[in-house]
Amino acid sequence: MHKRISGTLALLGGEPTCPEPWPTWPVFDDTERRQLGEVLESGKWWFGEKVRQFESEFAAFQGARFAVSCTNGTTALEMGLKALGVVPGDEVIVPPYTFIATASAVVTVGAIPVFADLDPDTLCLDPAAVARQIGPRTKAVVPVHVGGYVPDPEPLRTLAQRHNLRVLEDAAHAWGSQWQGRGAGVLGQAGTFSFQVTKNITAGEGGVLVTDDEALADLCRSYTHCGRRKGSAWYDHDYLGSNLRLTEFQAAILLAQLGRLEAQIARRQANAALLDRALQGLPGVRLLATAPQMTRRSYHIYIFRLDEPALGVSRDRFLEALNAEGVPASKGWYRPLYQNLVFANAHRGPAHGIMAPLAAQRVNYTQVHCPVCEQVCRDAVWLPQNLLLADTPQVQRLADAIARVVRGARELA
Ligand SMILES: Cc1ncc(COP(=O)(O)O)c(C=O)c1O
Repeated sequence: MHKRISGTLALLGGEPTCPEPWPTWPVFDDTERRQLGEVLESGKWWFGEKVRQFESEFAAFQGARFAVSCTNGTTALEMGLKALGVVPGDEVIVPPYTFIATASAVVTVGAIPVFADLDPDTLCLDPAAVARQIGPRTKAVVPVHVGGYVPDPEPLRTLAQRHNLRVLEDAAHAWGSQWQGRGAGVLGQAGTFSFQVTKNITAGEGGVLVTDDEALADLCRSYTHCGRRKGSAWYDHDYLGSNLRLTEFQAAILLAQLGRLEAQIARRQANAALLDRALQGLPGVRLLATAPQMTRRSYHIYIFRLDEPALGVSRDRFLEALNAEGVPASKGWYRPLYQNLVFANAHRGPAHGIMAPLAAQRVNYTQVHCPVCEQVCRDAVWLPQNLLLADTPQVQRLADAIARVVRGARELA
């Protein structure tokens, strides 16, 4: 039974349910100051110990053998695709419910993104939809762990084995997430993470690829390091590379951030469980699946879905009312990637060189239709991770605010 949350909605003139400020993000303290000071004073702003230390600690945290850091999550994906052997003309299956980087990285390496639909309960790739998109040119799949949700990796692994596909996890939201104790990033051949400023561990920008495959890690390292092979002389460039190196300052901050990640995950999980219990059964609210095999979940975003007809009000109006209660909820990704003009206009030809790689693929994304994703884009509600760092009474008030707007929804119509 749900507690009756009474009172006039804040949007209609009542008192907001959550007037107090939410925990701010990013979190930092003297650990970051000390770490940064050490780099500053050492004069080793480049090629010091911090980058290597962070890589080995992060690899251990994910349960991977190797980690290769780089400038951001986008370049980590590009590097991973290249190192896994994706070449121009290959097809790579991606979900349409993700940040643009998952698909743009595929185009940047000259390959063709092919969109497959979602599982409506996890918002991650539906393996059956992936199977329908596999063709003779398919080289790889990039599953995205939306908000930190790691689905059962077995169905994709089976498909990948059967069709000789590489699996590169876009784990940009999944630091610490696990399936049966195994970390995101090593459920396929490799996985990539982002440390951009909204992420649960951040240096403002930054990225990393993890893998158990030493040869792959060496190739990635060469790529980030201007094509230098491991141990080779400074002006020997055996591969075509780029410069994607992380600085010592970023690694210093990331080391400090990594130190508090475990405790933060525990708090986010506890608060997410509180929300799950409080929202369960609310009319018009649909929670995502939970799985006991997901032994840890980062909760970069807490997502629930709305059933507008049952609720009696549109998502936009619901969000307006929730925002007025003091909850900074948003609609998140409001269009499937293929509806972005970068893809929808691709068949019209390049307006300039930046669009040329996509135009050269001769694909028409206006024909693509992923109905589950399109519905999710219309009905999802996102709560950012910093709300889950609040204390229990404040998270209880968050749940009360949602329940209050659900109960009062019809007054808003
Ligand atoms: C799912 C996903 N993949 C990739 C990226 C790209 O990461 P970055 O912003 O570090 O380039 C992001 C960033 O928001 C993301 O959300």
